[in-house]
Amino acid sequence: MIHVKKTLFAFMLFSWGASAVNCSVKGYDTGVHPAFIANKTIATAPACKGLCTSYVAPKCDSFAFGGGECLLYNVTVAGNVNPSNSSTFTFYDSSCTVS
Ligand SMILES: *[C@@H]1O[C@H](CO)[C@@H](O)[C@H](O)[C@H]1NC(C)=O
Ligand SMILES: *[C@@H]1O[C@H](CO)[C@@H](O)[C@H](O)[C@H]1NC(C)=O
Ligand SMILES: *[C@@H]1O[C@H](CO)[C@@H](O)[C@H](O)[C@H]1NC(C)=O
Ligand SMILES: *[C@@H]1O[C@H](CO)[C@@H](O)[C@H](O)[C@H]1NC(C)=O
Repeated sequence: MIHVKKTLFAFMLFSWGASAVNCSVKGYDTGVHPAFIANKTIATAPACKGLCTSYVAPKCDSFAFGGGECLLYNVTVAGNVNPSNSSTFTFYDSSCTVS
């Protein structure tokens, strides 16, 4: 019994981990968890990621960059973004590599 539960738990963790990272998603946030920071002086996506990783409290879980604006969110991309290719904003989870 215990063994079965551990296996199931590990599987759930793995599934969650595999679907948790979303990089380069064009779209708009749903508005439920608005950005906690909007910085219009950040000019590049790597600089935006840098600002994100510099935040500890609130923890920055994802960021969006577009139109010379950097937005930081304390939730991950999954569930917070409505994908739309016509958006000027591109969303990344904080662990994404950006160039
Ligand atoms: C996030 O990534 C998962 C797994 O690749 C995918 O199913 C999901 O549609 C993505 N979500 C967004 C908002 O892009
Ligand atoms: C997350 O950010 C929102 C603003 O978008 C804020 O109201 C909320 O308190 C923050 N949550 C945490 C855990 O920092
Ligand atoms: C925007 O980011 C720049 C560079 O990190 C920083 O110097 C500035 O204080 C930030 N402004 C706001 C409003 O967060
Ligand atoms: C956005 O563009 C990508 C690549 O061109 C395409 O695979 C995807 O289906 C498009 N998504 C939407 C919602 O139009």
